[in-house]
Parts: sequence; C-alpha cells; structure tokens
Amino acid sequence: MDRLREKVAVVTGAAGSLGLEGVRAMAAEGARVVMMDLSPAVTDRAKELAGDGFDVTPYVGDVSVESDMAAVVRTATATYGRLDVLWNNAGMIGADWINQDTDVVGVSRDHLMRTLEVNLVSVFLGSKYAIPVMAGGGGGSIINTSSVEAAGGGAGPPRPDRNSEQRPARW
Ligand SMILES: NC(=O)c1ccc[n+]([C@@H]2O[C@H](COP(=O)([O-])OP(=O)(O)OC[C@H]3O[C@@H](n4cnc5c(N)ncnc54)[C@H](O)[C@@H]3O)[C@@H](O)[C@H]2O)c1
Repeated sequence: MDRLREKVAVVTGAAGSLGLEGVRAMAAEGARVVMMDLSPAVTDRAKELAGDGFDVTPYVGDVSVESDMAAVVRTATATYGRLDVLWNNAGMIGADWINQDTDVVGVSRDHLMRTLEVNLVSVFLGSKYAIPVMAGGGGGSIINTSSVEAAGGGAGPPRPDRNSEQRPARW
C-alpha cells in the first residue's frame, strides 16, 4: 500500500501503544514519520521500525513545552523537507495519574494544570507551529486524539462498571 507516499508526519506519544501502532501503519503506507515522545524509549522504538525498513526519526521532547513543539516541526522540515500530518496523540493515561483525577473538590491545582498542559495546550502548540509549514506546502491534516470520556466525562475513580447503580453522580 502506498497511500501516504511522499507524505511526512509528526506523531506525538509515539512510544506509547496507540502512537507506535499508528506510526507503523502510516509508515507501511509510505509516510516518513518523526516520532516524538517524552520517553527516551522512543529512540529504541524508532530503531526497531527502521530495522523493519521504515523511514522514521525519533525526537525526545515534551509536548507541553513550546520550544519542543517548535523544534519537532523543524526536525520534520530539516529531515524530510515538508510536513503533511500532525497527530497530537500524547496524553497521560496511566492509572497512577488518572486515579489522582478525582473531582473538583479533591483534585490538586498542579494535577489539573499538568493535565491541561499535556492534553490540551500541546494541541494548540503543535498546531501553531505546524500550520504555517503545512500551508506553505499546500495543505495538511491535524489529527487530535480524544477519548470517549470527552463526550460524557466522569466523576473520577474508582470507575465502576458502566451499568452499575454504584456509578457516581457527575459533578
Ligand atoms: N488506550 C485507550 O484506551 C485510550 C482511551 C481514550 C483515549 N486515549 C488517548 O489516546 C492517546 C494515546 O493513548 P495510549 O493508550 O497510547 O497511551 P500510552 O500511555 O500507551 O502512550 C502515551 C504516550 O504519550 C507519552 N507522553 C506523555 N506525556 C507526554 C509529554 N508531555 N510529551 C510527550 N509525550 C508524552 C508517553 O510517554 C507515552 O509514550 C492519549 O492521548 C490517550 O488519552 C487512549
């Protein structure tokens, strides 16, 4: 398959489960991909994909840091000459983090702000630096990973079965 031949993508959260499989799927369609993640493990994941014959470049950085988002876009243009796709996929989904996200009374300000920076502000930052490059190249696609929780929210952990009468009321 060759549907992304000549296309260049930046994928954030590329060392994680959805991001890594997404990078593999894009690369299998011919895309060249800059793989961004906070975790240095992204370098090993990129080496593995390169070993499978895919053209990928790792970038270790934090999506909530403006200079990192500017730099990952620059990495795409410096390495591959263009940018067609930005997939804002990084997010903090580990149980240790999610389980601190209780309710408006119990959650700490630091937890709220870090969650907003990584899950929301990062989308603004990535778009801010990608759009001018994409526009200069004739267009592009920005994809933002969300969650079913975005449609309905939740009252925080522990999360009971969806059909349980114990499901807590929403704030
Ligand atoms: N897996 C699911 O069931 C599910 C459900 C709903 C939404 N999502 C969303 O999908 C996206 C990917 O989820 P996943 O299951 O692959 O999670 P994952 O934990 O496997 O991967 C997330 C990746 O993001 C990276 N990351 C975290 N903070 C970062 C930062 N500040 N800068 C750069 N990278 C950072 C992590 O190191 C990790 O590699 C997330 O945005 C998540 O909220 C996932």
